[in-house]
Amino acid sequence: MANDLRSADLAIGIDFGGSGIKGAIVNVRTGEFVGDRVRIPTPQPSVPREVIAVMDTLVRRLLEQFEASGHGLGASVSGQMPVGVGVPAATKHGMVLTAANIDPAWIGFQAEREMDLAMGRTVAVGNDADVAGLAEMRFGAGKGQQGTVIVLTIGTGMGTALFTDGQLMPNTELGHIEINGHDAEERVAESARSRFDLSWKEWATGFDVYLHQLERLLWPDLFILGGGASKRSDNYMQHVTVKTPVVIATLKNNAGIVGGALIAHERRARVAVGMAGEPFS
Ligand code: BGC
Repeated sequence: MANDLRSADLAIGIDFGGSGIKGAIVNVRTGEFVGDRVRIPTPQPSVPREVIAVMDTLVRRLLEQFEASGHGLGASVSGQMPVGVGVPAATKHGMVLTAANIDPAWIGFQAEREMDLAMGRTVAVGNDADVAGLAEMRFGAGKGQQGTVIVLTIGTGMGTALFTDGQLMPNTELGHIEINGHDAEERVAESARSRFDLSWKEWATGFDVYLHQLERLLWPDLFILGGGASKRSDNYMQHVTVKTPVVIATLKNNAGIVGGALIAHERRARVAVGMAGEPFS
């Protein structure tokens, strides 16, 4: 089994979350982890230099574990393995553009270039919800889904990924649409429950208003709910009243890591033929 692994199919996915930075080596053909996931707490404040140092440590640990595991693919494979990172912000050409839930020092930071230099390997950077959405569409609840699909990652922030016939439109940032004069995320992210001490029913009522708003504006064919709150869907699905079908993400919290590996793999292929470009194009 292990020897069926092809080095060209392996990439490292990293999910940069509010409380933890998580990563794994992923077989991008199957979406499965190769070895164990590693998690390191997110440094506070989450400034770029500290976060990149943690990611570098995480990559080293994953590769040590990989080399020790006897997959029959040695250090030369480790040296080449690309990394893909989902960051909780809009990103373009490897640069971070916003910072709703991370240190403002990220705004304008050339993340792809700096991570590439720090880790000495090809790094792809994308928005965390886009990256998780790509994984859900390839291997999870969105597999084979045509039409308009909205993937929501409900966690510290509210992330969104918009797909039309399987094609991603990156950086939608629909978590920040205005509802009743407020940034929707303040009320509908999972973090809002503890911040405002909301019961599940209270939270779900606001979330349902938010889904209705997205439905009215974008007329999706499917909503896929991912992120931390997707594990607790029994607590709120009965309060969701939109007409659009709503399903729970199947990759759950691993979608960000798997999607990170997908964009890493794609970027490596583009770099190999001399095209840097956007990971999602
Ligand atoms: C950010 C998005 C991110 C989402 C989930 C939002 O606050 O603006 O870029 O995808 O949180 O982390």
